[in-house]
Amino acid sequence: MTSDRDWTGRVGDIWATEWRRTDRSFERLAPVLNAAIVAAAGPQAGTIVDIGCGAGATSLASAQALPDGQVIGIDLSPKLIAVANHRAGSLGNVAFRCADVASAVGMHAPVDLYVSRHGVMFFADPVAAFAQLDEAAAPGAALVFSCFAERAANRWAVETVAGADDASGPTGAMTAPGPLPLPIRPMSRRC
Ligand SMILES: C[S@@+](CC[C@H](N)C(=O)[O-])C[C@H]1O[C@@H](n2cnc3c(N)ncnc32)[C@H](O)[C@@H]1O
Repeated sequence: MTSDRDWTGRVGDIWATEWRRTDRSFERLAPVLNAAIVAAAGPQAGTIVDIGCGAGATSLASAQALPDGQVIGIDLSPKLIAVANHRAGSLGNVAFRCADVASAVGMHAPVDLYVSRHGVMFFADPVAAFAQLDEAAAPGAALVFSCFAERAANRWAVETVAGADDASGPTGAMTAPGPLPLPIRPMSRRC
């Protein structure tokens, strides 16, 4: 389980230190996701919100690929937002906010396109959070995201748990927020 408190604190701080490693680990996924984002954006890309933007890789790629769009990356972690702002430099059509995306997104309504690289799996109450995202969406808005497939499809996760001293693993928390909480099947391709 990874809670809001983890992301605003220690876990977010570690991700902020390790953002280059994160981007390397996603280097095969990112071009696929970024191409899907460009394909989903209309001719006038409008307002694009990156859910759980982390250190900003997807926001920055979207802003560069869609110069007519205005990208807002939102993340709980102040340190990740600081890294994202630093990486943005003088790029004019991207902004970053440190906030809970579900609470903050209304300020950016209507949202034409939601994007996310592995940032949609951590809501304590996913139904309530997605309802708020839906409320802020423009008519016909799209959501393009990547996330892990279910635990059984991820050998690294299964074998890590099997190899841990505490062989009981995280089975008790299978419905808690986290990278592999539920048997989710991505709509396009597996990562
Ligand atoms: C697995 S990381 C992915 C980060 C980034 N999208 C990337 O690809 O590098 C998940 C991110 O979601 C953020 N997050 C989790 N719950 C959130 C929420 N309710 N509102 C905003 N950000 C959230 C975390 O702080 C974290 O940076």
